[in-house]
Formats: sequence, C-alpha cells, structure tokens
Amino acid sequence: MIKIVYDIKVYREGLKDIIKEDDVVVELGCHVGNSTRIISQIAPYGRIIALDKSSQSEKKMQKLIKEEGSLIEFIKGDVRLHEILEEVAKKVNKIGGCDVLSVDLGGGYHPDTTFKVFFIWSSTLKPRETIIRNRGLLDFIHSSTSSEIISSNNGWLESCGDDGIPTRLKELKLWSPKL
Ligand SMILES: C[S@@+](CC[C@H](N)C(=O)[O-])C[C@H]1O[C@@H](n2cnc3c(N)ncnc32)[C@H](O)[C@@H]1O
Repeated sequence: MIKIVYDIKVYREGLKDIIKEDDVVVELGCHVGNSTRIISQIAPYGRIIALDKSSQSEKKMQKLIKEEGSLIEFIKGDVRLHEILEEVAKKVNKIGGCDVLSVDLGGGYHPDTTFKVFFIWSSTLKPRETIIRNRGLLDFIHSSTSSEIISSNNGWLESCGDDGIPTRLKELKLWSPKL
C-alpha cells in the first residue's frame, strides 16, 4: 500500500497504522528525529535507517540513538544521490529487506522531487508499505480522474515492473542499472 498524507499528525498516525513491531523502516527526511522516536517505539524489535541532509540532524539523531538504542541508524546525506541509495540498499539487503519506506522531505516540498525520490527508492527497495508526506501529491491524487484503473498492492509501483532504474535520466545522478 502507498499512503499519501500532508498533515504531520496524520503522517504520524499513518506510521502507527502501517509499521509492525519487527519491521525494517527506511525514513527519508528524519530531520531531528521526532517521528523516528515514534517509529522506534512502534517497532521495538525492528530496525530504522533514518536519513537527512540537514546540519541540524546529526547531533539530535545521535542523542536519540543514545536514548532509544542501537536499532536506529542515522545517515547524513542527500537522498537524491545514487551513492546514498546504494549504501542503504546494501544495508537493508543484509537484514532481510525494507518493510516500510517513509518519505517526508517537507510537507510542502516540490512534489516532482518527492515523487522521483519515492519512485527510485521504492522501486529499488520494494517495501511492503510506503508513506509519503507531500501536499502537492495529495492534491494531484484528489484532483485527477481517470476511466482506467492501474494499482499496486505493495509500497512501490508494480505496474513499472522490474524495468529498473532508467540510465537515461541523469539529472539526479541517482539512476543506475546496478541496483
Ligand atoms: C519536514 S522535515 C521532516 C520532519 C520529520 N519527518 C518529522 O516527522 O519530524 C523535512 C526534512 O527533509 C529533509 N530533506 C529535504 N530534502 C532532502 C534531501 N534531498 N535529502 C535528505 N534530506 C532532505 C530536510 O533537511 C528536513 O529535515
């Protein structure tokens, strides 16, 4: 399932709905870890890989890891970069794969970048569930209509199959046939 939300409270409730106690969660845009703390309490037997590029994140995330335990790992980096995705993909493959992908790059953040980050990360990690916090994507879903139905049961777009990551799209330096 792919859940799209905007309100931060709805986002945090959504995390509670989809995460199980032993899930491996990849959290893109953890900021200072306010939702990471919630995730660690919902999944006390799981693992969390939390990422953010902000200079505000590192100290707060290290403090959180001290308080909540070693199930959380923080990676400082830009989630649009291929090497960051590659690092996380290798880690999650070693621990049995990603169950939940959470994408919160800022609720009002560019929907185009948010969608691209969702698409590339979810088609690589193939999570059971994805939650995305973004106003523009929520608006798009509710404002659009179609007579055709194509839908997916998991947290990634199954209709795109195993097409892989398109090498021709170079703009985020992210796309690679290796993953
Ligand atoms: C609204 S905050 C996230 C709040 C957090 N999810 C929570 O629930 O408390 C959005 C975060 O996304 C991060 N972000 C935006 N673009 C990013 C990118 N390309 N790579 C990594 N982090 C990014 C920002 O640095 C910021 O900390």
